[in-house]
Amino acid sequence: MQTTLAFDVYGTLIDTHGVLTALTDLVGDKAHAFSQTWRDKQLEYSFRRGLMQNYAPFAVCTSQALDYTCEFYKTPLTPAQKNDLLGIYRELPAFEDVEEGLLALQGVGFRLFAFSNGEVAALEKLLSTANIRELFLDLVSVDPLKSFKPNPAVYAHFLRQSQATGENAWLVSSNPFDVIGSISAGMKAAWVKRSADAVFDPWGIEPTITVSNLLQLKEELRKQSIPH
Ligand code: 2OP
Repeated sequence: MQTTLAFDVYGTLIDTHGVLTALTDLVGDKAHAFSQTWRDKQLEYSFRRGLMQNYAPFAVCTSQALDYTCEFYKTPLTPAQKNDLLGIYRELPAFEDVEEGLLALQGVGFRLFAFSNGEVAALEKLLSTANIRELFLDLVSVDPLKSFKPNPAVYAHFLRQSQATGENAWLVSSNPFDVIGSISAGMKAAWVKRSADAVFDPWGIEPTITVSNLLQLKEELRKQSIPH
């Protein structure tokens, strides 16, 4: 049975700090802090909406998190400036290691899927713009479930959509909440620790493997003697 790999998108395949240049032009030296607050608030809104069962598409979480961040930093951007930033967010770059890493995994027979909070249309545009769409057998969004990661139902949804089981499916994510959520839902998971400073939540649920980038993934999965 081939092994299925579910790749998280924002922060794993796609560099969400890719808006930094545009942000620096708009908010100056606050740009890095602004970008981090925007990302943290975007995720917080998805967690809250999932728990409240008050679903709105991830793009709404992103847009409302931008509004919050502008208020928080007292940097009132115009609607046009916000639309420009959201436009950039829809076309962020992939990390440098992604295409080569995915090709290596595809080349030895792994089944590759993108798996994200984002809606399928947004993922199609994002991954096509980043020139990596064709490396995936399919794109799986949580949107049909009207909930978000780490709801266990969304990982079960991925397994159904990809025709995989927990025993032969891995999540690949840079987001510890996603790694812990997928393992709790019966999958295995690779944590992509892209920053040496990244901290994994001390919950006692550890990644199955940890890598620094996607180029290390093929070898680390081989060490797990995984069929592919
Ligand atoms: C995702 O792409 C939010 O990074 C997370 O689903």
